[in-house]
Amino acid sequence: MSRHLLGLRDLSVTQIQHLLDLAQSYADGERPAGILAGRTLMTLFYEPSTRTEISFELAAKRAGAEVVRCDVDRSSVKKGESFVDTVQTLEALGADAIVIRHPMAGAPTLASQLVRCAVINAGDGMHEHPTQGLLDLLTVSQRRERIAGLKVALVGDVLHSRVARSALWGFTKLGASLTLVGPPTLLPPLLPSSLFPLPSQVTMTSSLEEGLQDADVVMALRMQLERQQHGYVPSLAEYARYYAVTARTLAYARPDALLLHPGPMNLGVEITADAAYGARSVIQTQVANGVAVRLAVLLWALDIDEQREPPRSLRELGAERGNAGAREREVAEIPATRPLPVIASGASRSGGPRGDLMNNEIATGLRPSQ
Ligand code: CP
Repeated sequence: MSRHLLGLRDLSVTQIQHLLDLAQSYADGERPAGILAGRTLMTLFYEPSTRTEISFELAAKRAGAEVVRCDVDRSSVKKGESFVDTVQTLEALGADAIVIRHPMAGAPTLASQLVRCAVINAGDGMHEHPTQGLLDLLTVSQRRERIAGLKVALVGDVLHSRVARSALWGFTKLGASLTLVGPPTLLPPLLPSSLFPLPSQVTMTSSLEEGLQDADVVMALRMQLERQQHGYVPSLAEYARYYAVTARTLAYARPDALLLHPGPMNLGVEITADAAYGARSVIQTQVANGVAVRLAVLLWALDIDEQREPPRSLRELGAERGNAGAREREVAEIPATRPLPVIASGASRSGGPRGDLMNNEIATGLRPSQ
């Protein structure tokens, strides 16, 4: 049997906690050697990626799987092959699991309805990025021992962010409260709760100071220029002036607040170097946790997670470590005076209509050729 991971909205609290416990055992150094021997993972990324694609590959290879990367730009997609045919071709070639990133919300959902192998969503349009959500939860729970009761602020381009949507479901299911912070144009449109019931622990504000007040966790979101059809802010400089997470604005949050960013960062836009490389940043830990999380997800999706020793819970592990947190890499100390890189000026502004973005827009709307 195989399972699909399409979004954290679909998972129960028990399933999320199980995946986090499993991932923690690998973050703590459990060796996965051979557990995926004889299995084939295929990655199919229609959008660029560094962290997600590489960490899926690393996780699968460390566990003994064969890994095949379908390079979309050199594949028959360039000759007009449809998404549906491409996915079915990969299954016919022997995929046990296909990891899909696609600009269209719901593409992995569509694929999951067409194949028997496991489909894992590696980010679909403005819908969800569930493995990112899991690694965000893991990173915070390693440092805080709990998610329940924490106050989490998501700052920036919430409207276009699949990371924000997975964080929303993950953090609220585990009992955190969430504040969405950004200019009104970059917050999801308010919908009647009868149409779309948001979890009651979610609030929104356009004041950075108000949104960060007493926050235990601050997550800066990437400005998704590639999904913006027209100017949502007067200029990036003006956006940064009011909404960038900096060492100064981070002071609105609790003194021990954690700073997350899913990456890649637009330094000088949604986050500045003094915050990103400062003492509160756990951004490199997020990246490192990606491998353990994706390994856990692969085992779960292929239904072999129960064939190993049951992992101990994060709580047990935390008590054993004296709350020292999980194995972590030190965040490099980079002086706050480091020059800021120039912001890419050629970002595409096509795609991505504004709409009911908390929902999976797809599933009925995706045409096979997309
Ligand atoms: N956070 C994230 O998805 O990064 P990549 O685009 O590099 O995979």
